[in-house]
Amino acid sequence: MRILVVGSGGREHALVWALARSPQAPTLFTAPGNPGTEALGTNVPIEATDTAALQTFAAKEAIDLTIVGPEQPLVAGIVDAFRTAGLPIVGPTAAAARLEGSKAFAKEFMQRYRIPTATYRTFDGDAFDEAAAYVHAEGAPLVVKASGLAAGKGALVCATEEEALAALQRIMVDRAFGAAGDRVVIEEFMTGEEASVFALTDGEHYVVTVPAQDHKRAADGDTGPNTGGMGAYAPAPVVTGGVLTRVCRKIIEPTLAGMAEEGHPYTGILYCGLMIADGQPRVVEYNCRLGDPEAQVVLPLLQNDLADVFMKTAEGALSGVHLRMGQEAAACVVMASGGYPGPYATGKPITGLEDAAANGALVFHAGTARTADELVTDGGRVLGVTALGATLKAALDRAYSSVGSIHFDEAQYRTDIGRKGLARL
Ligand code: AMP
Ligand code: GLY
Repeated sequence: MRILVVGSGGREHALVWALARSPQAPTLFTAPGNPGTEALGTNVPIEATDTAALQTFAAKEAIDLTIVGPEQPLVAGIVDAFRTAGLPIVGPTAAAARLEGSKAFAKEFMQRYRIPTATYRTFDGDAFDEAAAYVHAEGAPLVVKASGLAAGKGALVCATEEEALAALQRIMVDRAFGAAGDRVVIEEFMTGEEASVFALTDGEHYVVTVPAQDHKRAADGDTGPNTGGMGAYAPAPVVTGGVLTRVCRKIIEPTLAGMAEEGHPYTGILYCGLMIADGQPRVVEYNCRLGDPEAQVVLPLLQNDLADVFMKTAEGALSGVHLRMGQEAAACVVMASGGYPGPYATGKPITGLEDAAANGALVFHAGTARTADELVTDGGRVLGVTALGATLKAALDRAYSSVGSIHFDEAQYRTDIGRKGLARL
């Protein structure tokens, strides 16, 4: 089997690593990939957003299955293009990927199907006065969001009315997120604990993976700016069996049924970003892909042949598939470049990966590059240092002891990954 993974981050390295474990021993390609994926297959120098070149490559190289990591190509319609060309692919069509690509669409969809989420209103990007009046009427705290894709930075949590007005100013007047701000969502601030649940679906049947928890803020104690995610662990004990059942019945099933009813059956991976309070889950956001870094803890816990599971997802044959989780826990600590998510330097030599591997860690590459003779930093999130353990504590201890053996100048990481999970156990 020949499989193409699209993307270049830690999530894609984890995908390629998991596929490499398949008993089918697939031949693996990653576009464009990173030094981690290069060690497990062939990196193809095509950008994740270059749908035409990816399609040409997949046809020419007789790729049996393409799996798309990031959201941009999905929202832009890579699945539609591949399907038209008869190329099997895992992901939603552009129409279905609107669940992530348009927060306004997602909120209106959830309202139509009574899927639990924060109360909200949407505004056109030029309706500043109307939006400001809504802010005054509702009062703080509020969350102000650019509706379109904004690399995870388009949600502004506002503690005061002044902050909410400043957020409207940034999105609507300064156009800080460009066309992503053509529509604006203002919603209720939800309290509770967040978790991520992923469903793999062929449009009709679905399976859910072990629930994970991300750490979005840059600094310890959930302080500092939002990032792509500074670490994750799974399973997340906040998602008890009862909560997971409610996620399936009240969120995933009505979402899949609603999309099908509207003529856009959802296929691929449905990421439910949840806020859980008193055992009741509500949707913070949908994404149309695996989370990163959540994928780095979820995929290593799955015991199935993932090449087979993803192929069945693409073929509409998920009925009868059951995901098998190990009894263990997994933890991932992201090592980022100093300054991230703000400006940071690159090109810093990275050492100690062999020691981390000898310690039993899985080190997934995100922002790294290989020069003639060394591995250097090449992005904000540099590495995802992941470890499994019999318990969450054991996984965290091993992840952190492995972080201790990896060095690059100005490395930045959180020291409290998993603390909420430990407190619940
Ligand atoms: P989003 O881009 O919609 O995922 O939002 C990014 C982060 O902002 C979420 O993971 C939450 O931490 C926070 N957030 C977004 N919407 C809300 C909300 N309605 N209530 C509380 N926190 C939120
Ligand atoms: N870790 C959050 C995301 O992938 O969107």
